[in-house]
Amino acid sequence: MNTKHLIDLNDCSKEEWEDIINLAVNISDAPERYAETCKGKILATLFYEPSTRTQMSFQTAMLKLGGNVIGFDNPLNSSVSKGETLADTTKIVSGYADILAIRHPVEGASLVSAQYSNCPIINAGDGGHLHPTQTLTDLVTMKKEIGHIDNLTVGFCGDLKYGRTVHSLIKALCHYQNIKFILISTPELTLPDYFKEYIVQNNCAFQDVLSLEEAICELDVLYMTRIQKERFASEALYNEQKNVYILDNKKLEHAKSSLKILHPLPRVDEIAAEVDEDDRATYFKQAKYGVFARMALISTLLGQTHEKYQLKGTSSEKACSNSRCITNQENGIRKSFYQIGEKSYCEYCDAECK
Ligand code: NCD
Repeated sequence: MNTKHLIDLNDCSKEEWEDIINLAVNISDAPERYAETCKGKILATLFYEPSTRTQMSFQTAMLKLGGNVIGFDNPLNSSVSKGETLADTTKIVSGYADILAIRHPVEGASLVSAQYSNCPIINAGDGGHLHPTQTLTDLVTMKKEIGHIDNLTVGFCGDLKYGRTVHSLIKALCHYQNIKFILISTPELTLPDYFKEYIVQNNCAFQDVLSLEEAICELDVLYMTRIQKERFASEALYNEQKNVYILDNKKLEHAKSSLKILHPLPRVDEIAAEVDEDDRATYFKQAKYGVFARMALISTLLGQTHEKYQLKGTSSEKACSNSRCITNQENGIRKSFYQIGEKSYCEYCDAECK
């Protein structure tokens, strides 16, 4: 793989990420064979936002590869609480560790780290933007449980506006053959325009749908998501959206027997506990595959010669229109935009900038 960091899966070619998926599948068949692959190496997990699965699966992955782990999961216990910038924290920690996994509430944060780091950076979730290692996990799950990733009708249900797992997975699936997207959400939580534009630019089809009941019979994969309470401007707005979509056994009566139900987890109440007993419930297996996906990714990135990330877009003094973007939250960050047709997009958060 040529890519030195994993910020957005689409920085790699499809062949490159398929190599990681295939390696993850091989690792899952015999993980003990990889027990010394990263001996003597250190992974640092810098988690500025809560996490159970992502952080622990990164740590488990590194330990299973024979490496060690350092890091924090509460920035209040680190120098971040004294006002240290992300760039400085990255420079310091990348002098201690061989690879860094960063989760941050601000969109584009890991791209900032990748410009300053002395070792590979993995984006473990940047605000409501992207979550590429969850996507690797999802693709490994589909490969293992369905056998292929082409020719599928995939329904995404719930918070498609702030759900970074949804954004990353849609971007990746656009590169497979004959994928049809059914976007099941309220108008308030619909997929942001720039991701819809990405679907269209890549010649895929999508349909916006309000009712899970009506869409479920068509689906090969149903990707349920949590309403991302922490990203709403107010509790009142969140309360209007919670509990709209609940998958239960009754709704599943209309689904294909081959359906696979995925969820990045944690769930709140969008999947009733009774569904866990259904053979189509795949989300707990999916969480396990996350360890193998991250083992494959860590060992691949550690096999590269390191280079700092160089911005690809054109720099400009104009501001990104997205208030949740790191360029609007921290000082001294070099802005960068890329063009598709007439439109200009922020390299950090992909928002269209007018
Ligand atoms: C997701 C995340 O953090 O974006 N969880 C995860 O990484 N497994 C989804 C969520 O929090 O709802």
